[in-house]
Amino acid sequence: MKNPALLILLAACGATGPAPGDETPRSPAAAPTRIDALVARMTLDEKLGQLTQLEGAWDAPGGPKIDARYRAMIAEGRVGSFLSVFGADFTRELQTIAVEKSRLGIPLLYAFDVIHGFRTTFPVPLAEASSWDAVAVENAARVAAVEATAAGIHWTFAPMVDVARDARWGRIVEGSGEDPYLGMVMAAARVRGFQGDDLARPDTLLACAKHFAAYGGAEGGRDYNTVDVSERTLRDVYLPPFRAAVDAGVVTLMSGFNDLGGMPASAHGGLLDGVLRREWGFSGFVVSDWESVGQLIPHGLAADRAEAGRLALTAGVDMEMVSKTYIQELPAEVRAGRVPIGVVDRAVRRVLAAKERLGLFDDPYRYSDPAREKADILTAEHRAAARQMARESIVLLGNQGGVLPLAADRIHTLAVIGPLADDRQAALGPWSVPGRAADVISVLAGLREALPRARVLHDAGVSIEGGDARGIARAARLAARADAVILVLGESDAMSGEAKSRADLSLPGRQMELARAVIAANPKTAVVLMNGRPLAIPELASRAPALLETWFLGIETGHAIADVLLGLHNPGGKLPVSFPSATGQEPLYYDHKPTGRPGDPKVVWSSKYIDAPIGPLFPFGHGLSYTRFEYAGLSITPDRAGAADTVAVEFALENSGQRAGVEVAQLYIHDLAASVTRPVLELVGFARVELAPGQIRRVRIEVPVAMLSFHGADMRRAVEPGEVEVMVGASSADLRLRGRLRVTGPKTPVDDRARFSRAATR
Ligand code: NOJ
Repeated sequence: MKNPALLILLAACGATGPAPGDETPRSPAAAPTRIDALVARMTLDEKLGQLTQLEGAWDAPGGPKIDARYRAMIAEGRVGSFLSVFGADFTRELQTIAVEKSRLGIPLLYAFDVIHGFRTTFPVPLAEASSWDAVAVENAARVAAVEATAAGIHWTFAPMVDVARDARWGRIVEGSGEDPYLGMVMAAARVRGFQGDDLARPDTLLACAKHFAAYGGAEGGRDYNTVDVSERTLRDVYLPPFRAAVDAGVVTLMSGFNDLGGMPASAHGGLLDGVLRREWGFSGFVVSDWESVGQLIPHGLAADRAEAGRLALTAGVDMEMVSKTYIQELPAEVRAGRVPIGVVDRAVRRVLAAKERLGLFDDPYRYSDPAREKADILTAEHRAAARQMARESIVLLGNQGGVLPLAADRIHTLAVIGPLADDRQAALGPWSVPGRAADVISVLAGLREALPRARVLHDAGVSIEGGDARGIARAARLAARADAVILVLGESDAMSGEAKSRADLSLPGRQMELARAVIAANPKTAVVLMNGRPLAIPELASRAPALLETWFLGIETGHAIADVLLGLHNPGGKLPVSFPSATGQEPLYYDHKPTGRPGDPKVVWSSKYIDAPIGPLFPFGHGLSYTRFEYAGLSITPDRAGAADTVAVEFALENSGQRAGVEVAQLYIHDLAASVTRPVLELVGFARVELAPGQIRRVRIEVPVAMLSFHGADMRRAVEPGEVEVMVGASSADLRLRGRLRVTGPKTPVDDRARFSRAATR
């Protein structure tokens, strides 16, 4: 095919033949596999059953339950998978029905949203991405896998790899932020952590990259809303983290709820069959999102449930979550010849192959082990990993007043104020179903533990969202009496996540009034933010003597925050998302296009607002430390390079302050003139460098020139020759070193494989 991109996507075609990774048609000479033998014996209902996922009630009193009718469906072999069913005993009980009562004894596959830890709740994904530490993030996913599998779970609906550039969208909390490259790094790390290197081990589970694709581009930041991005933006911005997940071996993907330029993602053959299977060679299976097959009707694509099921399955959605059109409607569709049996068989094989990879045919109960469930969940080691991940996830946004770190020996009375200071539920963040508030160390509890000799006093002052301001004066009086104040503000856990879009990104309720009064009463105030998205808080940022972004850090919240406030851990996190100065700036992202009239507040006819700044309040990549870092001595070798070369960008990084610290040094490029416009900045690498006071290290980031490729005027990915500006700095707005690279040779097409730069220090 000469131009697969155009042909496939614009036609949004359905399945037309075997794609790479399909097990059918098999060569007649190949020995029949266990899956062949099973498929040959399956009835149509049993096949469609394997493609059906039903829901458990995870929040039922006494633990997860399923609908009584579903037990009969298991025995009839009419269900292949459950979501939100867990617990060693319960999963064993249902598995016994599948294995012993159903005709073919095919084991069930148990899925769950294990998004940021299981019972040991880790920081929300956006927080973990703030660490820029792929090793720690992989380990967090590993811990989650160990705990979830101990509770009988085979498959997590994670990682969410949606690039999110609009903070109004509540699901920004579940991903790695606005940048495709950081998103790729985190996507691959999480897949490796969940799936490990051997899926047959009972402590590894299937990962699921979601939501394919571009779900994060919802218009107006309103969840489930239409996405209408260009094919170029789709391919250059939204798809790369999915490709990284696929290249890391992810076994499943979830199709999104969203319409994408006129074709709902859950019926998008161009994406599911075209891009995913034909272009990328994906060989796992695709699950729909919750009822997203049935929802093809309200989308206005399908006239009825039969058509909805037919469109989704033929487009490449192998398993249907919850809406049951496959099991109820497709038998007749297949019999009438409207759905080829080959399409059904192909999907069945993919699902059975995943079960086989997990070892479920050899031992269907291997994950349902009550002894492991007792021993492996919420261990001291897991808690320690959660604390380390939480410390690394914290971003020091501002410290003008030099308030932080607090000197523990000078604090006799500490006031801990604010509605989130002792809110253990909120600290868990959204998507933390097995997490328990009782396991959480709140900020107040963490500080009390860290300062056993101080008087640590608490007043919530106001509630998170309420209109009652009567507690403000009382909280301010408490602040005035203290040696220092920790003021904990933000959003509740229920204000971000699915269906939690906000049209106003300011601090909710009366919290800003509380902040004004408390800071006025005691200038030794450090503000700790807990929230699931960037907030528009210009006034708070200018008033707060110190400002920490902590997102939602999970069960070790209080320990991690106390560690940072007291300087036991020097913060090194950097923002994976831009903070707006005003909600109306959204969508806001650092890697925007230049425009013909670049924004300049002094130029009338330029791309700006007349009532708000142009740029962010805090830029992508921003994060301070208790020490200072200096950058010097940039070299780019070679500084003329072709598409097949790798360029080494080197510089010296010095810790010129008094404390040991970690700096995330960031490498950006800007392609000065190309066949299509290119972003003003693009992250292509970073290095997390630990430095003792006074230490200087030479940092080297190796960048394959192929990473500079993009979809040019002809919509093919290629490296184009020309001049590229290379920039190194502490954030996307704090660029310290600049140089030039000349890309030589002819325009060179490159494939879509996920490519990463490599950092090393000496
Ligand atoms: C809907 C969400 O969009 C998806 O991310 C999640 O995995 C499913 N529900 C299952 O809970």
